[in-house]
Amino acid sequence: MLFPDSRPRRLRQSDAIRRMVRETTLSVDDLILPLFVINGKGVKNPIDSMPGQYQLSIDNLVITSKKAYELGIPAIMLFGIPDKKDPLATTAYAKNGIVQKAASTLKEKVPDLLIITDVCLCQYMDHGHCGIVEGHTIDNDATLDLLAKTALSHARAGADMVAPSDMMDGRVAEIRNTLDENDYTHTPIMSYAVKYCSSFYGPFRDAADSAPKFGDRRTYQMDPANVLEAVREATMDVEEGADIIMVKPALPYLDIVCRIREEIDLPVAAYNVSGEYAMIKAADKMGWLDGQRVMMETLTAIKRAGADLILTYFAIDAAQALRNNNEER
Ligand code: PBG
Repeated sequence: MLFPDSRPRRLRQSDAIRRMVRETTLSVDDLILPLFVINGKGVKNPIDSMPGQYQLSIDNLVITSKKAYELGIPAIMLFGIPDKKDPLATTAYAKNGIVQKAASTLKEKVPDLLIITDVCLCQYMDHGHCGIVEGHTIDNDATLDLLAKTALSHARAGADMVAPSDMMDGRVAEIRNTLDENDYTHTPIMSYAVKYCSSFYGPFRDAADSAPKFGDRRTYQMDPANVLEAVREATMDVEEGADIIMVKPALPYLDIVCRIREEIDLPVAAYNVSGEYAMIKAADKMGWLDGQRVMMETLTAIKRAGADLILTYFAIDAAQALRNNNEER
């Protein structure tokens, strides 16, 4: 039907009617809050390139996690910042490592908040790469054992879910086997299956002190130009035993989120990464756009593209906005 018989504006006339025909609804249940944990007490170091985000010692991590939980956010994603780094990332799988200590304290203090741990080695390696380095290359197969050890130590400490973000081939199967052999058959794996080699991770690397000391991550993270490869990566991880498939970054890769949602019958998560957060915060500070509205538009767009779950540094702000919105009605 054409105009004037059809008038799409009829369904846009009021808030009530817009709500009735709305196709995508963002919910607090969709949100996962990434948090950075560091050794010490009373530490709350602001991250310059991520206004509103901090490196937190465990006591402050508990406070922020409680706040997230009370707002209804179901899960956090934990990133550790260790005191020591070495060529075998030993602090990544140490029993008293920073993530292990944080996970066990959180399980005690905020037991119903789901704890997902990022499983990677880059923060723990003195060279900043996500795997064992031989000369100037990354040894894929030698790295798998360390990743599995790290995932297992997180589960032992109380992590409810593990999320490998290293992009080594075969790591999901290795982690699944190790968890199963040690009776963690119920610990799900959220795989950073489709992780691009993106410049949008810049602020995160400041926050986690994880920038590579030489070269870049192009031999393991994906080429931003590829989409078929995303389908292959996701399919492989499903076969290896992943429970949730993640696409990362989110906003510049919404076509990929959409494609993966169509191809894969597991829940799909999208990571609204540090650079996406920083851009909105910076433009808001300059007065160039309304950060609060752009945040909600962005998160809704990521959901509309097909993400069931969204990892976002905006989780607390968005949960508050969703709550205020409901209260206003
Ligand atoms: C660790 C890891 C990174 C991010 C999540 N896990 C950095 C990287 O791969 O260099 C990025 C998250 C963000 O930018 O918000 N490998």
